Amino acid sequence: MRPHAREADQEWVDLHLSDVLAGLSHALDLTEGHPPGHAERACLLGMRIAAALDLPDDQRASLYYALLLKDAGCSVNAAPIAELYGNDDGLVKATRRANDHRSAARSAIHTLRYAAPGADMRTKLSRIRALVASGAEGAAKLTELRCERGADIALGIGLSDETADAIRSLDEHWDGGGYPRGRAGEEIPLLSRIMCLAQTLEIYWLAGGRSSATRMAKERSGAWFDPELVRIVADHAHDDAFWGGLARPDVRAIEPRAGAIGATDDRLDSLAEAFGQIVDAKTPYTARHSRGVAQLAALITLELGLGADEASRLYRAGQLHDLGKLGISNRILDKPGKLDAEEWAAMKGHPEAGHAVLSRIPLLGDMARLALTHHERLDGSGYPNGLSGDQLALDDRILAIADVGEALSAERPYREALPVERVLSIMSEDRGTKLDESVYEAFERVLPSWHEVIRHEERPELFSPDYPRSADRRAA
Ligand SMILES: [Fe+2]
Ligand SMILES: [Fe+2]
Repeated sequence: MRPHAREADQEWVDLHLSDVLAGLSHALDLTEGHPPGHAERACLLGMRIAAALDLPDDQRASLYYALLLKDAGCSVNAAPIAELYGNDDGLVKATRRANDHRSAARSAIHTLRYAAPGADMRTKLSRIRALVASGAEGAAKLTELRCERGADIALGIGLSDETADAIRSLDEHWDGGGYPRGRAGEEIPLLSRIMCLAQTLEIYWLAGGRSSATRMAKERSGAWFDPELVRIVADHAHDDAFWGGLARPDVRAIEPRAGAIGATDDRLDSLAEAFGQIVDAKTPYTARHSRGVAQLAALITLELGLGADEASRLYRAGQLHDLGKLGISNRILDKPGKLDAEEWAAMKGHPEAGHAVLSRIPLLGDMARLALTHHERLDGSGYPNGLSGDQLALDDRILAIADVGEALSAERPYREALPVERVLSIMSEDRGTKLDESVYEAFERVLPSWHEVIRHEERPELFSPDYPRSADRRAA
């Protein structure tokens, strides 16, 4: 058995960050409307370009993590894109990328097709007018939001400045026509130039194979892409080794050995918090949900006397429990009225979507189960599997109560945030039936302090996994 990170008590351990990032990159694919495995395939292609350039080891390591986390900021522009287009954000993003959106004609046709679907021509045209009015400035702003956020997340989990810079300039183009700053040529970091090419190659490879990808790269050489990098792709157009493995990418096998980062417990906590923030950033109405659920779940666990390690585990589970929501359109998440049957079915799919992502990561296996069960109820009335009674373990029951407690305490598109008394009066109706009695009692004791002290703080524990567990450690 491989040693646990905590036992190793050092930065270098046998468990690599790539074991986790490769899996979590699938959550980012969901948000961007990419088919599963996009980031891994882009990583393979980018690393092959880096090998052809004979980049030094440390630069290859920075590129590797940047490629897997390149879309880490993607959830921040989901709500504005859904609002601007009046359509599913994932669909708009995916179809826009599959087009040369710098061509005015193609861009206009894309907008006509995807803005305000099903609406009359008048509504469609007014959407288009709003989009045109927001123009390059609007696109730059949306891209900047995404890239800056992605770079911050990379720095927050301890990745290099070079990795963060690469993510920041991911969408800049060689001729200065990209976003957000319109940088050109060698002003754009080399790693960003590689990433821009690799991610676009992946999209075209998936749609039409290597000839389609190579053709696209040649057509956009000197405009989108660094001609030197396109030359490498063209030189390898018939090289099976360059294009091989994309159908079943295994990026763990190509993690650069020099500069590889260990998956220490603290780094896993930071990563869980980062992904909690990615989920929370998707919609303004759940801007604090994952971290609030994490805090409440940890506090309930401590109140039940289960100890700091178990509280840490539940804290991590709280951050990751709604990962599957990254795949849900903001048209549904931010809808002010009641959801229709189809929308509700999409919403109810998020525990399974989160489970599918997390179960790819052996290190986070128990997180996968908790993501799947957090909407189950003791009386069998929950979803997705209608589990009941003994089928739900104590940690399932804790997370379920923390989830409802936070959700009722927060504002929603259709109602105000509720005060402590109201949250308790609503939830007490389900104590002992849908919700575990003793967990509910512990929740009842911690909720007032959580409301009063922690809930409104601005990111109190941002990337510092000692909060709120440090309180427990001091008390222990
Ligand atoms: Fe949920
Ligand atoms: Fe939730």
